[in-house]
Amino acid sequence: MTDFHSHILPGIDDGSQNVEMSEKMLELEAASGITTIVATPHFYLSEQSVERFVRKREAAFQELLPVAENMGIDIVCGAEVYYSPSLIDEDLSKLCIGDTRYMMIELPYTKLTDSFIREFHSFIGNISSEITPILAHAERYLRFTDENSVYEIMNCDMLVQLNSGSFKPFSSEIKFMLDLIKHDMAHLLGTDCHNTSSRPPNMDIAKKMIGKKLSARSFDRLMYNAEVVLSDEVIGE
Ligand SMILES: [Fe+2]
Repeated sequence: MTDFHSHILPGIDDGSQNVEMSEKMLELEAASGITTIVATPHFYLSEQSVERFVRKREAAFQELLPVAENMGIDIVCGAEVYYSPSLIDEDLSKLCIGDTRYMMIELPYTKLTDSFIREFHSFIGNISSEITPILAHAERYLRFTDENSVYEIMNCDMLVQLNSGSFKPFSSEIKFMLDLIKHDMAHLLGTDCHNTSSRPPNMDIAKKMIGKKLSARSFDRLMYNAEVVLSDEVIGE
């Protein structure tokens, strides 16, 4: 099983503060049966250069590597890249997940207007020959914008990731997420874990809800898709 979205690398963003916390997060991941974790620390172009981010990420990765290896967990480095039109001038391959063409992208938490959606689609069109974006936690934007605008955003050449924690019972986003999975419009699942208290890794909650409302196969397919993406292959081909 793969956790496709995590802030488990120590001391690099608002996620894990140190190796001790990362180790506890790894234990929780292992208890859920996770054997591969995509580390996606936040990247804000307005705050630092791509080069500096990659250097810091590598240092944090090296710090955690022996601990993860000890537990039999693979960590693949990526980033949660906050969208900015200026990204077009950067070498985005450095922000991709592992050695793949896939880059996770996060949108602003605000109403997604028609002009923003047009600008975003034109950005995606300009990078799509080399990069395939993955929309981070599609369901989270519903707190700020209407469902149609999120569907509009997804209506381009990109993959879609959902957060496992959003599958908690009575969450208002469940129907939206289940519909996306049912129609093969959501492809990947991550915990988006930040710590061991308020935002711990919890894949079980999604596994249980998807298994109950759709089928165990639907959950398995999301896990399988992660393997396809990490092999730099194309889902469904
Ligand atoms: Fe995140």
